[in-house]
Amino acid sequence: DDIVTRMKNIDLIELGKHRIKPWYFAPYPQEMVNLSCIYICEFCLKYRKSRKCLERHLVKCNLRHPPGNEIYRKENVSFFEIDGRKNKVYAQNLCLLAKLFLDHKTLYYDTDPFLFYVMTIFDSRGFHIVGYFSKEKESTEDYNVACILTMPPYQRKGYGKLLIEFSYELSKFEGKTGSPEKPLSDLGLLSYRSYWAQTILEILISMKPVGDNEKPQITINEICELTSIKKEDVISTLQNLNLINYYKGQYIITLNQEIMQSHKKAMETRLIRIDPKCLHWTPKD
Ligand code: COA
Ligand code: NA
Repeated sequence: DDIVTRMKNIDLIELGKHRIKPWYFAPYPQEMVNLSCIYICEFCLKYRKSRKCLERHLVKCNLRHPPGNEIYRKENVSFFEIDGRKNKVYAQNLCLLAKLFLDHKTLYYDTDPFLFYVMTIFDSRGFHIVGYFSKEKESTEDYNVACILTMPPYQRKGYGKLLIEFSYELSKFEGKTGSPEKPLSDLGLLSYRSYWAQTILEILISMKPVGDNEKPQITINEICELTSIKKEDVISTLQNLNLINYYKGQYIITLNQEIMQSHKKAMETRLIRIDPKCLHWTPKD
């Protein structure tokens, strides 16, 4: 039974102007599997058996953006916040769609405890979904992301890091540190490691000495407060970058030219960034 339920069951999806090959199994209803393609409304995420059925749907469907509140907009990038309780059908369809590209995460049929942050790109036809992350309304383990996904046509263009940056921006507004839910996929871990390294190096490199001949000083806790990255992730990042040395009874961080150069180069490729001034949001409770 396990093997059967885990087998990839959808060959192809059409989503807006994209045709996408799924990676993994997703529990779409039985009548949707074994079709050569399923057709998904890119705005409300309802699925249909044929293009004709989708066209009929589009006549009635007036959404041109995800439901919920648009809480961020800068240029053509927007974020919408969707409550999994108030927009249950949308949230369930989003989870179903995401499951096509998520291997190990269990599908949450109960979307009530989650908020969904959907990132879109705007053009004359509407706000097109690029990716999203979900977040528990209350996490006892300080998770600030449950699932995160960039739709495959948009992957490897920096949008994953933009989603991650946004999730930490929310944590900053909440005055908390956070961490993604474990286990992370290989691609998830790669993206987070890269985000953590760049974010922490930005801070270290911009530090000014406190006085003449004094080395700049910062504590791990201060890095956590500035970035909302959880302490254990800050420490593992510094260790992975091989920056921590123990010297005369103290831990010191040493930055060499090589790491500063490669950081500078990497940052030049991060063209789109989150601008906190464009976030219009207050944490609930
Ligand atoms: N191979 C190698 N490196 C990859 C990669 C791939 N296929 N995809 C992303 N990366 C690296 C990038 O090089 C980049 O690092 P760098 O800037 O240091 O070079 C980093 O990961 C982030 O890339 P970015 O373009 O911002 O991410 P993305 O839009 O491709 O999204 C995920 C990253 C994880 C969201 C995306 O791969 C995804 O949706 N995967 C499926 C769902 C998933 O596994 N989610 C995480 C678990 S919940
Ligand atoms: Na319409």
